[in-house]
Amino acid sequence: MTIHVLVLDGPNLNLLGIREPTLYGHETLAQVHAKMRPVAQARGAKLRFLQSNHEGALIDAIHAARTRVHGLVINPGALTHYSYALRDAIAAVSLPAVEVHLSDIKKREPFRRHSVIKDVCVAQISGLGAASYTMGLSHLLDYVASHDVATSAPPTAHKPTPKRRAQEKR
Ligand code: DQA
Repeated sequence: MTIHVLVLDGPNLNLLGIREPTLYGHETLAQVHAKMRPVAQARGAKLRFLQSNHEGALIDAIHAARTRVHGLVINPGALTHYSYALRDAIAAVSLPAVEVHLSDIKKREPFRRHSVIKDVCVAQISGLGAASYTMGLSHLLDYVASHDVATSAPPTAHKPTPKRRAQEKR
């Protein structure tokens, strides 16, 4: 089975490479994404990418992905810290999602330490630069392979229970 994955990047991530390189590195978003391709290829997975600076565009893409992909890798950028709408969109489609961050949000300003997205994701990987994306993808592919995820899942089918989520994050 080919696993289809949507990789979503939120606001300001289009400026990677020139944006605060001491925090986010010198690689462009295209270069970060390029590192995901061999991981996908080795596992027979297909990737689609979308970066948007607009919350609604990300939400629309998540809704459209509901019946087209098996899971999401998402770096929501600053939306991580306050977008309940993005959180609700991920919960609504019931696709497994892995939240990724280039920087270690736990070691940054207090407002960045909390993610409102985390609880609707199967994992959060933060602070590894581009490797957060490749590890996030590997984790998602493992999750999909072991949970029999269908693209046309009924709304609650793949919602991890709090217990399962705790086990999966260990
Ligand atoms: C980020 C961390 C966020 O706090 C920030 O707003 C970003 C990038 C990261 O990848 O480290 O835009 O998501």
